[in-house]
Order: sequence, then C-alpha cells, then structure tokens
Amino acid sequence: MSRPRILVAIPVFAEVLARLGEHFDVDAPCGTDTTIDWTADSLAARLQGAAGVLVAGAPRIDAGLLDACPGLRAVCSMAVGYNNIDLPACTAAGVLVSNAPDVLTETTADFGFALMMAAARRITESEHFLRAGRWTHWSYDLFAGADVHGATLGVLGMGRIGQAIARRGKGGFGMKVLYHNRSRLDAAIEQQLGAQWVAKDELLQRADHLVIVVPYSAASHHLVGAAELALMKPTATLTNIARGGVVDDAALAQALRERRIAAAGLDVFEGEPAVHPGLLTVPNVVLTPHIASASLPTRRAMADLAATNLIAVLAIEGTPPTALNPEVLDRRS
Ligand code: DGY
Repeated sequence: MSRPRILVAIPVFAEVLARLGEHFDVDAPCGTDTTIDWTADSLAARLQGAAGVLVAGAPRIDAGLLDACPGLRAVCSMAVGYNNIDLPACTAAGVLVSNAPDVLTETTADFGFALMMAAARRITESEHFLRAGRWTHWSYDLFAGADVHGATLGVLGMGRIGQAIARRGKGGFGMKVLYHNRSRLDAAIEQQLGAQWVAKDELLQRADHLVIVVPYSAASHHLVGAAELALMKPTATLTNIARGGVVDDAALAQALRERRIAAAGLDVFEGEPAVHPGLLTVPNVVLTPHIASASLPTRRAMADLAATNLIAVLAIEGTPPTALNPEVLDRRS
C-alpha cells in the first residue's frame, strides 16, 4: 500500500523528520535549517499529490490554495496562533487543521515577562550604551527605569499564556494584576490568579506594565493604536508577544519617540520579518525576532505535537490531540 505524501514546509528537527518518515513519504525541502519564502503558487505546486502539510505561523493556507490542492487532507501547525490558516475554508474543504497549544505556554510566558522586565529596566538601551564605550561615570539616575515588583500588571488577553504571565506577576513579583478579555474568567480562577477584570480603557489607564497576549483576528487588528496609547501613563511600558497587527506599530513608534509611554518590548511586528523603521530608531524599545516560544525543548515539543496530529489524521493512529475542526473527521467516517 502506498504511503501518504506530506510536505514539511518549514525547517524542523531531524528527529521529527525521521519520525514522520516512519509513516509518510516526506518532502522536506527546508531540511532542518533552510527557510523558504513560499508564494501561493510555489506552495500549491509543491503540494500537488500531498495529503498533509506541516507549517508554523507561515505560510498562508487559504481557500485559493485549497482549491489548487484537492488532495490535501490535513494542515498541522507547530504554532499556537493560526491566523495564517483560513479555518472556515479548511473546514468547508474537509481539511483537518491542528495547532500547538499548551506545550509553549510557560516558555512563552517566561519570555513575555523577560521582555517586560527588559523594557522596564532599560536593559537593551543600557547595554548598547556600555558596548559603545560611553560608560564613563556613575550617576544616581543612569538608566533608572520603572520597578516591576509591586507595580500594576495589565494583561490584555487572558488565555493560557496571559494567565501564566499573571501567575508570575502575582506570585513572583507581588504585582497587582488587572486584565481585560472579551469573556471574564470564572470567579474561582480570578481568585486563584488574584486577577481583577476591568474594561479595556481602565486597563490601559491603570497598568504600569501592559502585556498583550490576544490572538490576531480582524476584530483584534490595531486593538492598541494611537487612541489607546494616549490613555496609558507616561511611565508605563507595553509588551507585545501576541501577533503583529494587534498593535499599530506606527502609532507605537510615535508614542515611544515622544515619550508618551516610557518603553516597549516587542517580539512580533506588523509585516514581520520587516519591522517599522520608526521602531528601529527609537532607543526605548526592546526588539526580538518572534522568539517567545523558542527554547529548544519547547520548540521540539511543538514540532512533535504537529507530527502527532499529522500521524493521527493521515496514518489513522489515534485521534489528533489538538484538532481545531475535529468535525471534519466525523464527516469523513
Ligand atoms: C505561536 O506558536 O503562535 C508563536 O507565536 C510562535 O509562532
């Protein structure tokens, strides 16, 4: 019996490729270290005859691609965010989609917290100063920043990662935790986290350190723009580990330049890997290349989870643990 063919469209661990190779004919043009800038056409061409594809936060999987690849049955992502995948179009086409939640929660929360602390305590800015040989004197206010311990943490988006950040703020740093989410958490969970729901404007007004962790969608596009930034304290920091596009980067660059907020920590950008030029020239922002989930054990767990989903769907071994549209499988049986 011929084995299903799959495309691994991103670079992944050799061990994960080997595991997939036990079940599939694996087309892995990226191997372990080459990134391909897929276009819709090049991806569709490469997917001809493939039953499944392993992706991450890119490339884009949309209705046009599904039309061009009628043999496709599974799109398994090693990212938790899946705004690059048109889920309704996949469901309509009978294509199972999975993402990779949970395995990255703590690692991503660690990074969000680190970015927030780096922004508050001006770590990048002061390191650049030191490396440039400009450290010639001591002064009481040399790179004096904001305290994190005891400050008010504002979490915008209280899903799994938001809750993990709240736990760090409350338990480790004695912070007062406010949050805003479209739906409120159960009272018992709020109590456990020591977190208080407030309206979005109140969150922006009261937070000393705002951390943004909402998924990207049309509804969250520019959720924080010029009007929202204007509500924040001039001493506040903003950290974005959600997705580019949730924050209006041009408005943020201007607010940072004019010191209308103190600092920012950004791991995600509109149009990444391009970064708004205004952000590259202001000193009071810490910039990282979308690496919040990038510890080796976590990236391995994310890739393994995507592989497990592919094997379950296409090699019919178990049920896909993190399917986003499992109803597709019911329709198949
Ligand atoms: C995710 O998993 O969504 C992270 O942002 C990495 O892409």
